[in-house]
Amino acid sequence: MTSKDNFEFAHEHRKEVAWMSQNTNTLPVHPAILDAIRRSADDREFNLYPRKAGIFGLPEAIRADLALGEADMILTNGGIEGEYIATRALLKPGDEALSTDPAFLPIHDQVAMAGAHAVEADIYRKPYVLTPELALESLTPATKMLLVIDPNNPLGSGYARSQVKGLAEIAKDHGLWLIDDITYRDFNADHVLATDFYPEKTLLSYSFSKGPGLAGMRIGAILGPPDAIKALRKYDTNVLGVNVLAQRAALAALHAKKEWLPEVRRVCEQNQETIRRTVAKVDGASLPVFPSKANMFVIDLAPTGVNPEAVEERLLLDHYVHTRAGSYLSKTHGGKFLRVSFTVPEADCKRFADAFPAVMDKLAA
Ligand SMILES: Cc1ncc(COP(=O)(O)O)c(C=O)c1O
Repeated sequence: MTSKDNFEFAHEHRKEVAWMSQNTNTLPVHPAILDAIRRSADDREFNLYPRKAGIFGLPEAIRADLALGEADMILTNGGIEGEYIATRALLKPGDEALSTDPAFLPIHDQVAMAGAHAVEADIYRKPYVLTPELALESLTPATKMLLVIDPNNPLGSGYARSQVKGLAEIAKDHGLWLIDDITYRDFNADHVLATDFYPEKTLLSYSFSKGPGLAGMRIGAILGPPDAIKALRKYDTNVLGVNVLAQRAALAALHAKKEWLPEVRRVCEQNQETIRRTVAKVDGASLPVFPSKANMFVIDLAPTGVNPEAVEERLLLDHYVHTRAGSYLSKTHGGKFLRVSFTVPEADCKRFADAFPAVMDKLAA
């Protein structure tokens, strides 16, 4: 079965599956978020096109969440649409965007849609981030953009303040756009925005999918200085705004953030520890990055000789635990690892803990 078939199976059995495959969040949703969605539906707010700038209070709440005074923004159908708009608007054929391997590769496909090329600097080795030194080595005269995913998907590695500063300085010295993909920021209490060092040409890709668990709502934003956002608007296809129920959910999530975030982080810490103990039981399997600064990390299986795609399939079909093999996230190293997300109920993580050693044992035989 292909990964696509696995997703078909997982969706068919959604209620029984431990969803550890997409860095989504299946923990209980804060009641204020559900109330906001229900109220909007009851009020039939959906009869109208939403206010283009966003429902009153939402842009302000996003800026407050990031402690940003100045930034302008476009609300989008998930963060990924903002990245499409940005790469489309700022890159032209022949340009290069410097990114990493592993990374969230759909963004590299978007770079290609602009006729440009994503250069993938290898970070599947210590310290598992794009260091300023590696970035400098990887620049070419065609580089026009730096794409930093912080924390990184799939590795779960986070950038230290000095590293963010170093990358921002390189971008500044070379006049590059810097896309700071902060999709997983909520999971990292020490996160630093690249905007702190290079506000002129940094764009923040912001998402509501992971922390508050709103992936299916498809709501996010791209933020940056007003002149940059003005340039992006040329490729904004949402002239009629984005889903109003999603906007209500997003606003409620920000208002209630102090109430749900500590619990989400606590579960992540607990589940990571459960997975760490599980992986330690399997000869040859290891966690390159621990602890993760995000809600996922990778399990390296290379020394075991077991194919991660076979592990994905057996975990799903035999145990209803859905994880993701690495080929989706790295052309070079994807055959070595399995990515596991852990913003799931502790009982689901326990199911992974029971199933993983058994599956590895069976496949190694
Ligand atoms: C690094 C990264 N950027 C962007 C996205 C897209 O997120 P959204 O659901 O906000 O479109 C993802 C989704 O997994 C991601 O991992």
